[in-house]
Formats: sequence, structure tokens, C-alpha cells
Amino acid sequence: MSAPEQWSARQVMETYHQSVQTTYGRTPLVFVRGRGARLWDADGKEYLDWVSGGRAGNALGHCHPDVVAALKTQLDTLTFVSNDFYHPWGARLGQLLAEQTGGRKAFFCNSGAETTETALKLARKWGYNRRGAACHEIITFDRSFHGRTFGALSATGQTKFHKGFEPMVPGFHYLPWGDLDALEAAVGPQTCGVFLEPVQGEAGTYPAEPAFMQGIERICREKEILFMVDEVQTGFGRTGRFWAYEHYGVEPDVVTLAKALGGGLAIGACLAKPDCCALVPGDHGCTFGGNPLATAAGCAAIEALDRHALIANAAAQGEYLLGKFREWQARWPVISDVRGLGLMLAIEFSGAQGKTALATCLDQGLIIHGVGDSILRILPPVILTRAEADEGLRLLEAAIAGAVA
Ligand SMILES: Cc1ncc(COP(=O)(O)O)c(C=O)c1O
Repeated sequence: MSAPEQWSARQVMETYHQSVQTTYGRTPLVFVRGRGARLWDADGKEYLDWVSGGRAGNALGHCHPDVVAALKTQLDTLTFVSNDFYHPWGARLGQLLAEQTGGRKAFFCNSGAETTETALKLARKWGYNRRGAACHEIITFDRSFHGRTFGALSATGQTKFHKGFEPMVPGFHYLPWGDLDALEAAVGPQTCGVFLEPVQGEAGTYPAEPAFMQGIERICREKEILFMVDEVQTGFGRTGRFWAYEHYGVEPDVVTLAKALGGGLAIGACLAKPDCCALVPGDHGCTFGGNPLATAAGCAAIEALDRHALIANAAAQGEYLLGKFREWQARWPVISDVRGLGLMLAIEFSGAQGKTALATCLDQGLIIHGVGDSILRILPPVILTRAEADEGLRLLEAAIAGAVA
């Protein structure tokens, strides 16, 4: 039998269907190679990747040379020791993240959902220590997305994801997005924290209004509860600042980060202010969390952001793309909204034109995401050049022109 990388696209897809559970509605594309903002499929066709590998997973682009170099060294040095021990790369990544967050301390895990679980457990333990077991409720928001494990799913304010899996973990209270009066009314002695995405990503890219974010912080301070933000998708420079919360002038107690942190490898971190670190030995753990390979990749990825000024690039390219989207909105009334922060953008149509445009983009070699039939999500890697921005704009503009004709 030939090596899998020599299999035809059809053979790969058929083998998936035979041997892998159908938990994803996969696009029928088989990718075999990536470099920077480009992917190549099994037939050699080239694509411009405006989703960072998908779901904003790899903000540095494919096979970033700095991350690859660090990984090659690390593979020959040490890939795994458990959290029964120390190693230098975990120490250094903790330090680098502390520098990015004004001294917040990390708990390392492997995914976004695990960072959510960590934040939820930390908040419950913090509430328990301060006000007893009754103080365990966590407030989240309608349309939010925090992951697929039971705690994270229960925190997620979208009933469509709960269906068939009830009962959810108790102790979550969902509020309307943007409604500070509802928040004031909902917080009580039972509340230990509020958890939100600064830009709701999976739902269709909805940035919080500054007054909402700042109001949440004020209420959390007044009521002495934890202010927690899910930066799994928004963190690591995507919005044109290292953290999206920096756009709002707030200082959350707890911040979660995953996806881009590993430069293409699985890693997550839940960061908390030192006086909020309620989890103690025995409370929580993760065998592969913060392993030498993933943390070495994380160190290289953070240093690459800085060395190549990629956060400023994300801000500049994001502003450029949004400016063009606004021009399209003025030209085509069927575009009902364009929105976003940095390189986390969306175009919304009044009907199903999004679905048609998405199909044309894929056919023409531009990868973007859709939410329902009417929203296009655009999440290019932060290494995007102006030439790659223009190339994608040409393809997207032509696809939209065809879809609205
Ligand atoms: C804001 C947010 N939180 C959590 C998650 C879950 O991350 P993961 O898929 O790595 O578990 C996601 C994934 O899309 C996300 O966007």
C-alpha cells in the first residue's frame, strides 16, 4: 500500500468516511501542503488561505520558519515530560505570556475547550473560597461559543449545540449580548464570574461595543466577581492587538488563549491575575498540557509575532480589507453589514448570497468560512501581505459580483 501522502483525494475522503466518525461537515478538499498563507490540495491546486488553516487555528501561516526551526531542535531534545516535573520551555512560555498580560499566570492545556474548562473551574473554586459553595454561577451570553466539552458546551449560549446532550452542567446563566441592565439584575450572591468573547467569533464575528465591555468590568468590580474573557480566537494578535480586550481599555481577571498560540501545534493557556489563581495542587491537571514540544512552539510563535511586527501588520491589513468591504457595501445594498476587528472580519448579506459567493471562492482558490447562508467570515493569517490581500480581494469581489447579479 502506498504512503498516505500519495493517496488520491478520492481515496483519502473514502478512507475518512469508512474509518473516521462523521462529526464534521467537511468541505471536499484534501490538503497536503502549506506554506505561509497558501495551501495545496492533493491535485496540486493552490489556494489562498483566508481562514488560517480553518477556524483561525494558525495565525502565523503554515510552517512558519521560526516555529519549524524551534520544533526541529525540540524534537531532537525532549518532547514530553509530565507536569510532575519542570522544564525550561514551559517556564519561558509562562514568562512570555506574563509579559503580554501584565503578570497573569498560566495554566497550560491542549485546546480551547480545555482553557474554558480551566477558567470555569478556577471561577467556581474562587467563588467557593470567598463565599462558599452557593457562589458558583457563571454568566455567559447568547450567541457565545466556548467549546464542545460539557462545561464549555454548557457555557455556550446557543441551544442548537445543547440539543441531544442535555442535561447541561448546571450553574450557567445566559444573558442577551450587549444588555448591561440584564447583567446588573442577574448578578447576585450566587454569581462567581462573567465570561465572554470580546468578539463573538463562531456566531459570525460580532465585536462587543466598548460601553458593554467596560460596563461588564465595572459591574464585576462593584459586585466583586471575576471578569473573564475568552480570547481563544481573538488573542495572539488577530484583532491588531495581542489581546482583543486591549481595544477596550479593560483588565480582565482571567484570559483564555489557544488556537494560534502554538504556531500550528495544539496548546492552550488559561491566564489569571496572581490573586485570582484559586486552583491548587490536586484541583486540576492535563497530562500533555504545557509539554516541551508545544511550549517551545509557543515561545517561537510569540517571538515571531514581535520580531516580524505581525500585530501591526494584522491591524494594517485588517483596516485595508474592512475599508474595501465598506466600499462594496456602498455599491451592493444586498450587503447588509460588514464588521470586525483586525483580521477577524465578516460580510453579511440580506439573503443566501453568502453561500453562493463562498462556493465560487473555493472554486477559484480562496478559502473563507460561512456562517449559515448569509455570513462570510474572513480570518487570514497575521503574516498576510498587501499583495495577498489584493489577490484575495479580487477573487472575493468577483465571487460576490456573481452572487448578487
Ligand atoms: C471563542 C472560542 N472558545 C473556545 C473554542 C474551542 O476551542 P477548541 O476547538 O480548540 O476546543 C473556540 C473554537 O472555535 C472558540 O472560538
